[in-house]
Amino acid sequence: MKTIGRTSVMLLRTEDKIHATGALCKHMGWPLAWGGKVEEECITCPLHQSRYELETGEVREWSPFPLLPAYGRLVGSMRKKRPLQVHEAREIEGWIEVRLSS
Ligand code: FES
Repeated sequence: MKTIGRTSVMLLRTEDKIHATGALCKHMGWPLAWGGKVEEECITCPLHQSRYELETGEVREWSPFPLLPAYGRLVGSMRKKRPLQVHEAREIEGWIEVRLSS
């Protein structure tokens, strides 16, 4: 997790790409770098398991909380479903450049 200006950004590397996204889950603000799980080009928040596509930031699942789905629906309804910010990122000679999206 890095801060660029006043924006918190999470950087992560998948097999073939560097990704730069918003650092905090859009559900309740959990820092995704603290236990976020990456698989199938998505990141899943460890708190209530909201899941976002890394490429677009779109929400695949919103607070499903599989251990207690009724609780997941309840806490999921407390915040409007919003996509994760996605920023442009590239790696050049060992340096990572990020262009913040607006
Ligand atoms: S804070 Fe991430 S899913 Fe609830």
